[in-house]
Amino acid sequence: MNMDYIHGYSDDEQKRLIQQAEYWKNDLIVRDINYNSGESLLEIGCGAGAVLGILGTAFPGLKFSGIDLEAKQINFASQHLKQLGLDADLKIGNASNLPWQDNSFDHVYAIWFLEHLSNPLKVLQEAIRVLKPGGTITLTETDYRTIVISPDSENYLNLNYSLCELLIQSGGNPYMGQSLGNLLTQSGFKTVVNNALTFHYFSRQDPKKVTGFIDYVSSWLAPTIPQIVEKFNKDSESLSAGLNDFHNVKNNPDGAVTAVIYRATGIK
Ligand SMILES: C[S@@+](CC[C@H](N)C(=O)[O-])C[C@H]1O[C@@H](n2cnc3c(N)ncnc32)[C@H](O)[C@@H]1O
Repeated sequence: MNMDYIHGYSDDEQKRLIQQAEYWKNDLIVRDINYNSGESLLEIGCGAGAVLGILGTAFPGLKFSGIDLEAKQINFASQHLKQLGLDADLKIGNASNLPWQDNSFDHVYAIWFLEHLSNPLKVLQEAIRVLKPGGTITLTETDYRTIVISPDSENYLNLNYSLCELLIQSGGNPYMGQSLGNLLTQSGFKTVVNNALTFHYFSRQDPKKVTGFIDYVSSWLAPTIPQIVEKFNKDSESLSAGLNDFHNVKNNPDGAVTAVIYRATGIK
């Protein structure tokens, strides 16, 4: 279980999760997904229901379930899905001890979740238990070291390194994307694939995409700075300068940004 969840559970964070899912809707969330009407899906670590909302709209006729540790998330998710006209079976609970019977679901889905866990293997063992034979799992996570910018910035590198330290200190794993293939195989999944998807934008071709990506990352990176200062007593001026250099990529005609996000799948 996570010791100190870095994003918290404020109203702003719940809105951020909705915006984040909109941002990644086509490029990640529904990418390469083929679910059929009448099948059942469980999202583990479903947060505010943002991703269930996208999947529910894209795949009408799917039966949805979701679980999250935090009651505030599940309350928000129920309202959010109701507003979208979607019906879902949502539960408050720990994904390392799923309150469903063996062989319950056709699909398990998780995104931006395993990176927060100290024991992801236990969660994946639960996922395979509740999947029907032949059922699929789809996981999406990044490796924070891969978020790089031009022009280069010492202060941004320091901020990026500190973010990784913060995730580790909170019980998570900032490099999770790279581990997905091994973890799925170790949990007993077959036909495991882990694809490294590269997202790269540069100013002279697509300044809007550069701006969109920088603004998206800033929406979760900026709130981590006070935590880094408090927990590691780091220099807040240098961290803020790193964030500033990150923002300034948007104004630089030679600016560029890259990130690698891993999409892993397996079959029970
Ligand atoms: C970054 S949010 C992602 C939510 C959702 N997947 C999305 O993309 O919008 C991670 C969520 O995992 C939840 N979480 C963390 N540890 C958990 C656990 N052991 N079991 C269930 N949920 C957990 C947190 O409460 C949080 O809502």
